Amino acid sequence: MTIRICPSILNADRENIFEELVMVESSDWLHLDIMDNIFVPNQTFSEQESQEIIRRSKIPVDSHLMISTPDIDAVSYAQMGSASVTFHLEASLQPALTLQAIKSYGARASLAIKPKTPFRDVAPLLPLLDMLLIMTVEPGFGGQSFLVDQIPKIQEASEAISRLPGNKPWLQVDGGISLETIALAARAGADSFVAGSAIYKAEDPAAMIKALRAAATADSIKSMKPLKIAP
Ligand code: DX5
Ligand code: ZN
Repeated sequence: MTIRICPSILNADRENIFEELVMVESSDWLHLDIMDNIFVPNQTFSEQESQEIIRRSKIPVDSHLMISTPDIDAVSYAQMGSASVTFHLEASLQPALTLQAIKSYGARASLAIKPKTPFRDVAPLLPLLDMLLIMTVEPGFGGQSFLVDQIPKIQEASEAISRLPGNKPWLQVDGGISLETIALAARAGADSFVAGSAIYKAEDPAAMIKALRAAATADSIKSMKPLKIAP
């Protein structure tokens, strides 16, 4: 299984954002959190700032849109060069059309669900997805604790994905991912891991990326004790 480490620059140093991008170039994807202060109580990068970050990043960018109007705005993040655009099911009135519109610009198209949204809400759309993002914190802020009660949902999604014929969407987790929690999510079936504070608070972000990757690989998770969590 391919493991992808996706640093989130939400809590990176804004004054030196381009130096911060260089620090994480050994990872697989850059995770760009876009918040509109409506869908979540926080605001992040403007379209202009996002465009500049996407242009300057040497690794592909996944724009994670925590905005209330993805059906209108998601496509512009594909047009500005995001290699992947992820929007929230809870905010979309026509997810299938929006996924299609993103793909028409050559970007990967993904859906995210919040902790309280059950997997069954997104299940019918699974064949249309390039990636499913299961939030492991309430979206809005970095630095929160990993919600261990999301593990059964990750397992459920992973099983459904493995039963899909043909193209299988990636399964991503976002929120509270650290050296302590990444193996839990990996063992439940996640293959793509967003990490903000774990990477940017580390003394050596490149070493942390390497350590997270190692902690998520099959060999290290095989030795873990079985995990029992009530659904
Ligand atoms: C939260 C964002 C996350 C956040 C993760 O709403 O979607 O991407 O940056 O930060 P950590 O890894 O600190 O939980
Ligand atoms: Zn995010």
